[in-house]
Amino acid sequence: MDGNGRWAEQRGSIRSVGHRAGAKAVQIAIEFCLEQGIGSLTLFAFSSENWNRPPEEVSTLMKLFLRMLDTEIEELHRRGVRIRFIGQRSDFAIELRDKMAWAEALTAGNSQLNLNIAGSYGGRWDIVNACRSLLASSPDPEAITEDSLGRHMALAGQPDPDLLIRTGGDFRISNFLLWQMAYTEFWFTPTLWPDITRKELMQAVADFAGRERRFGLTSEQIHGEQS
Ligand code: IPE
Ligand code: MG
Repeated sequence: MDGNGRWAEQRGSIRSVGHRAGAKAVQIAIEFCLEQGIGSLTLFAFSSENWNRPPEEVSTLMKLFLRMLDTEIEELHRRGVRIRFIGQRSDFAIELRDKMAWAEALTAGNSQLNLNIAGSYGGRWDIVNACRSLLASSPDPEAITEDSLGRHMALAGQPDPDLLIRTGGDFRISNFLLWQMAYTEFWFTPTLWPDITRKELMQAVADFAGRERRFGLTSEQIHGEQS
């Protein structure tokens, strides 16, 4: 969800104005998934590296995060959204951690949409964390397989993402779901995150639907033709 800061700067506002506008765009994205029957949405809200931003900006983002939890969770629950947080939970203040745990418990039985919110998340962190957790249960190197390690990753039990949408005009993954995106389709747009619309999300999904996903196979294999 990139481009909040630039969105604000273009309007002569401070960056926090952009973050607040970005929070509104989150609602558009969730609404879109519910309407389209998309089963999972993972939002990259705050990266492991974002802690190094100026302290005022980090503090604004934490306050916004807390406010969103206070004001949005019950409505999301009513809509059947299951919320989970992925990332290094212990980096957050206790107040936020408590709210995250509360939101997860409240919505644990929901199944309309799996909403994963990545906070203090990094793809490299996820892989290292999974290795640590797997080795704690079995120190045998032979026990490390793609399947067993996958069961310790942040999105364990959930499908790998089909589509990554990156707003803000940059063409990079920025330490998002490195492990899980081995075969994810990418869609980039110069649109700044607060300007995202239902129409543009629809365009991204339509583009995705027209792609041939081969997962390392040949086109003939995918279509079941004789080679
Ligand atoms: C993304 O927007 C939001 C977060 C990282 C929380 P940015 O804040 O990165 O916006 P730009 O890239 O400066 O425009
Ligand atoms: Mg950015």
